[in-house]
Amino acid sequence: MKKILVTGGLGFIGSHTVVELINNKYDVVIIDNLSNSNIDVLNKLETITGRKISFYQEDVSNKEALRKIFAQEKINGVIHFAGYKAVGESVSKPLMYYRNNIDSTLSLLEVMEEYECYNLIFSSSATVYGNPKSLPIKEDFSLSTTNPYGTTKLFIEHILNDVYISNNKWNITILRYFNPIGAHKSGLIGENPRDIPNNLMPYIMKVATKELDELKVFGNDYHTSDGTGVRDYIHVVDLAYGHVLALKNSISGVKIYNLGTGKGTSVLELLHTFERVNGVKIPYRIVERRPGDIDACFASCDKAFKELGFKAKHNIEEMCLDAYNFIKKNTN
Ligand code: WQD
Repeated sequence: MKKILVTGGLGFIGSHTVVELINNKYDVVIIDNLSNSNIDVLNKLETITGRKISFYQEDVSNKEALRKIFAQEKINGVIHFAGYKAVGESVSKPLMYYRNNIDSTLSLLEVMEEYECYNLIFSSSATVYGNPKSLPIKEDFSLSTTNPYGTTKLFIEHILNDVYISNNKWNITILRYFNPIGAHKSGLIGENPRDIPNNLMPYIMKVATKELDELKVFGNDYHTSDGTGVRDYIHVVDLAYGHVLALKNSISGVKIYNLGTGKGTSVLELLHTFERVNGVKIPYRIVERRPGDIDACFASCDKAFKELGFKAKHNIEEMCLDAYNFIKKNTN
């Protein structure tokens, strides 16, 4: 399986996955509509990898554009990242999320079928587990979502199962990401949201560079060691490499894997680690809980380890160092 189409390949996780694919001798084609990414990421990817990369600025829901790509490039497999992903925004704009995330996936699947390309890796999320009944979270836990963004991921997982049942030539891997943070060691690519970040690490990074004055910690009355929310933060490079392992181990059927570290870290633990390893102060204030947040969430990674040989290598300190290294190089 040589040539991989990466939808949303200029985004945070997509771009890091492109690097790992090329490092592992895959040819890569990127489709991205630049709605939540920057064209200058393409040049950075070519600098990091030393390779020219075919890029199509198109929307994945545009079937004509997809057909052109499949006709011009012999695509053997697809990794599908493209989609809106802000939880809060999805609550205020559900129709935009359902239209965009579902439509683009349906268009992609239809064109893949037309071109008899049946190898797909889908970017899902731990958010499909809702509030887990126990920890660590296993892939066979019950699924429930509390926001339209998470529901699009769950709907697409159901669609993929039905597609496989209708045609068992499909070889589908669903990867449920926990909380990806950090950046490529070069500091050339990383997470740099345009507006006020929803997620914790990008927010901390903007406080570190003084673009924002303090971090609001959403609640310290959760049932966790220090009362703040606990999550499974995984280095984005480890997450990216998980896609390479999924490609190498692809067999027919629908396989589901958690991609996390198996360890939980609280908001304050992450903040203090960031301060310690980077020698910066992150002012913060405890405020009320954010609606929809859960106390704690971290992965069981046994299945990904046993079947894919996946094991996250980077620790929290490295995630904080790499994140800060990126934001320092990309903030004027
Ligand atoms: C982490 C912790 C917050 C911001 C979401 C999506 C998930 C994935 C990652 C897309 C929580 C606390 C946060 C802040 C804070 N996204 N926090 N102050 O909510 O675990 O997951 O983003 O794929 O699908 O559900 O990540 O980074 O928003 O929050 O205190 O300004 O940090 O309460 O405990 P989350 P997060």
